[in-house]
Amino acid sequence: MKQLNAYLEQNKQRFLDELVALLRFPSISADKNYEPDVLQTADAVKDFLLQAGAEQVSVISTAGFPVVYGEKIINANLPTVLVYGHYDVQPADPLELWNSPPFEPVIKDGNIYARGACDDKGQMFMHVKAFEMMMKNNCLPCNVKFMIEGEEEIGSANLETFAVQHKEKLQADVILISDTSMISNEQPSITTGLRGLSYLEVEVTGPNRDLHSGVYGGAVANPINILCDMISSLHDADRKVNIPGFYDEVQEVSAEERNSMSKAPFSLSDYKAHLDIQDVLGEKGYSTLERVSIRPTLDVNGIWGGYTGQGAKTVLPSKAYAKISMRLVPNQNSEKIMQLFEEHFKRIAPSCVQVKVMPHHGGEAAVTPTDSIAYRAASKAMEQTFGVTPIPLRTGGSIPIVTMFERVLGIKSILFGFGLDSDAIHSPNEKFGVFNYYKGIETIPYFYQYFAEMSRV
Ligand code: BES
Ligand code: MN
Ligand code: MN
Repeated sequence: MKQLNAYLEQNKQRFLDELVALLRFPSISADKNYEPDVLQTADAVKDFLLQAGAEQVSVISTAGFPVVYGEKIINANLPTVLVYGHYDVQPADPLELWNSPPFEPVIKDGNIYARGACDDKGQMFMHVKAFEMMMKNNCLPCNVKFMIEGEEEIGSANLETFAVQHKEKLQADVILISDTSMISNEQPSITTGLRGLSYLEVEVTGPNRDLHSGVYGGAVANPINILCDMISSLHDADRKVNIPGFYDEVQEVSAEERNSMSKAPFSLSDYKAHLDIQDVLGEKGYSTLERVSIRPTLDVNGIWGGYTGQGAKTVLPSKAYAKISMRLVPNQNSEKIMQLFEEHFKRIAPSCVQVKVMPHHGGEAAVTPTDSIAYRAASKAMEQTFGVTPIPLRTGGSIPIVTMFERVLGIKSILFGFGLDSDAIHSPNEKFGVFNYYKGIETIPYFYQYFAEMSRV
């Protein structure tokens, strides 16, 4: 392992240049216009895996975007690590809020700015480079498989079929995923919980056409007004979600775990300052960290309808729309919650409008134990390179494939993220620290080493 530090030092600039090249591909899976770019990105990932020394490298087609696979099997008796990551990214809009174009990476003040820098190209690529280091220095301590998908940001709709079809090929002892964040560069953490998700869209229809808001306004239901009423009724005065049955299955977290969460270093005033807000808002009775990890939530992600162009147009619109997501916690079932929402939303709709609810994707929450070999190996690896023991912490985001892999492949995941919450993933000016990129590359080989060692005994 010692020689790896020298290799990293010698190849630092190239590692960064290669990531920059990967970030130039606008691999936006949500937007049909970028389909050729997404496919080209898969090919680029394939080439990088080949260069790094992987074998059986292939771009495997699915009903959607392909999965890039590669492996290095050194000895069937050694444990196998399956690396998962995604090469697709979120749309970059609103473009005008970016300080530099999202697909023209800029390195400034120790950060790489680009869409996908942290989520997930930068973090995924750390694994490719760490693998290259171990290959070129003949010190790969176990078998490795890579599965890099291109549909994570749109719900991984075809990954379950892929996993079922390639069950044998994907057999491994652990799945290693770097697609989350840590507390800070001084205090690393390992993600031990993710929230589930139910995502849907609603359409509220009033009159059969847009109307003059003076001639008809006041007498005919305005679907935007109604939609706003309905949405605001979805939270009560304690900011609890006001859908009957919503909390029924929620797994309450023990006082002990809540107590240990409250010890994680967290400054509410820094948090507010970062976001330029005077105050936070959330469910009564829970701390900010709890609100974004162990509690379920409901948020409107987008709302539109009527006239939004320049100037004023007096119009009473025919339709109003919203995209709504609910973050879920262990034991809640994403399909059941979707159903509860749909029933409730239709029930509260006044007779002057018609309501449609269209489900998008969903997924279940995940929790990972801290007493597994894989967790201990991950913890020891971070301790080695950061000089501090990482704190186990649940987080608010969702990676629905974690529970899917457990169900279909029977393999648990380790969420080995090196990003920061301030990396602005999904937002304008997404970034990834150059420090974090190299730290990840430095730390990953130790995970392999400790995982192999601990698996032996
Ligand atoms: N990498 C994120 C998830 C994430 C981010 C987890 C930060 C923990 C901390 C992932 O790419 C993502 O964006 N997931 C989506 C869900 C998906 C089904 C579209 C999410 O959480 O909104
Ligand atoms: Mn991601
Ligand atoms: Mn994402």
